[in-house]
Amino acid sequence: MILQDTLMSSKELMELEDRYGAHNYHPVPVVLSKGQGVFLWDVEGKQYYDFLSAYSAVNQGHCHPRILQALMEQAQKLTLTSRAFHNDVLGPYGKFITSYFGYERVLPMNTGVEGGETAIKLARKWGYQVKGIPTNEAKIIFVTGNFWGRTLAAISASTDPSSTKGFGPYMPGYVLIPYNDLPALEEALQDPTVAGFMVEPIQGEAGVVVPDAGYLRKAYDLCQQNQVLFIADEVQTGIARTGKLLCCDHEGFKPDILVLGKALSGGVLPVSAVLSSNEIMLTIRPGEHGSTYGGNPLACAVAIEALQVVEDENLAENSENLGQIFRQRMQRDLVDRTDLVTLVRGKGLLNAIVINDDENSGIAWDICLKLAENGLLAKPTHGNIIRFAPPLVMTEEQLHECCDIIQKVVLSF
Ligand SMILES: Cc1ncc(COP(=O)(O)O)c(C=O)c1O
Repeated sequence: MILQDTLMSSKELMELEDRYGAHNYHPVPVVLSKGQGVFLWDVEGKQYYDFLSAYSAVNQGHCHPRILQALMEQAQKLTLTSRAFHNDVLGPYGKFITSYFGYERVLPMNTGVEGGETAIKLARKWGYQVKGIPTNEAKIIFVTGNFWGRTLAAISASTDPSSTKGFGPYMPGYVLIPYNDLPALEEALQDPTVAGFMVEPIQGEAGVVVPDAGYLRKAYDLCQQNQVLFIADEVQTGIARTGKLLCCDHEGFKPDILVLGKALSGGVLPVSAVLSSNEIMLTIRPGEHGSTYGGNPLACAVAIEALQVVEDENLAENSENLGQIFRQRMQRDLVDRTDLVTLVRGKGLLNAIVINDDENSGIAWDICLKLAENGLLAKPTHGNIIRFAPPLVMTEEQLHECCDIIQKVVLSF
C-alpha cells in the first residue's frame, strides 16, 4: 500500500494536499492518521484531544469498536444494491430508527445537505398536495445565519458571503427572516404560499448561537397555527450532542420533519435521514426522489449500531453533565478572568467561546494553533469564535484536563 510504505511527514503530506487538491478548505496544520475515542494522533505520533468531533459527526468517539464491528460484519455480506432492489437491512433499519425517534417514516440519504434538500422537497410536495399551494409558488422560510451545506439549494438560503459570492443565480422560493425573532416569523407565516420553516435549533456554523428559551417551541406553535411544516435541521445538534437526544427535546415538541446526519453513523460513513409522518412522507411517489447510496445495507447496519451505542452509553446524559461543567469552568477560568474572552455559550457538549476581537484579527486562529501545540484540536468559526465539541464519550477527568489546557493557552495570550 502506497500510503503505509512511504511514511511521509506531516509537512510532505500537507504539501501533497496543497499541490493536488482543490483549495476549498483552510485546515489547522495537523495531519491525522489515527483516532480512538476522544483522541487523535498525527503522523508523527503526537496525541491530541479532539474538540471538534468532525463537526459533531463523531459523537460516539473515534473508531468505536461496536460500530466498526457492525461495519465489518455487514461489509463482508452486502454493501450496496441501490434501491432498484430491496435489501435485508433497510426494513429493520426503518423500523428501528422510526421507533427510536418517534416518527412514522424515514427517507434515507447520505450527507446532511441531501437531508436538507429532501426536507425541502417534501415540504414543497406537501404544500401543493395537502395545503393546496398553487403550483410552483411554495415558499420555505429560513433564518439569517443558517448553515445547512454547500449545494446550490443550501447556499441559496445562506446569508454568509463566503458561501454565496460568485455562485449565483440562487434558488427561488426562499424567504429569509432574522433568527430568534418570533414577530418576524409570525408575519412571514401569514403568506399562504409558505410550506415550511427550516431552522437549526442551535446554529452550529454561525458560532453555536443559542436562541432564547421558548423560541423554538413558540415557533413550532406558530407553524402549527398557520399550517406550515416545522423542519428541524438537527444534523449538527441531534443525536445527544446538546444533552438530549434531539435539541428540540429541550423544549418538548416534535418537529414535523426532522433532518439527521453526521453522528447517525458515528463518523464511519456518510449517512443521513429525514423522518416524518405518513401524511408528509407519502406525498413523494416512486421515482420522484432518491439516491444510489441512500438506504444501502452498510449504512443501515452502521446507523443501527451507532444509535444503539448512544443509548447504551447514556451519551445524552454525559453530554448534559459535562456541558454544565465545561461552561462553568470557561466562565470562571476565562470569561471572569480575562477581557479576551467575552462569552461562553452552548448546550450539552456543543459550546463556543467568543474572543473579544474583530473577526479578522486572527487571534482565535492563533489560539487554535497553540491549543494544537498543547494537544487539543479545535477550530475557529466566523473568525473570533472557537467551537468546542468533543466526542460525547469523554470522562469528567478528561474534560477537566482539557479545560486546564484551554485555560492555560488562552490566558497566555
Ligand atoms: C446544521 C447542519 N446542517 C447540514 C449540514 C450539512 O451536512 P453535510 O456536510 O454532511 O452535507 C451541516 C454541516 O455542517 C450542518 O451543520
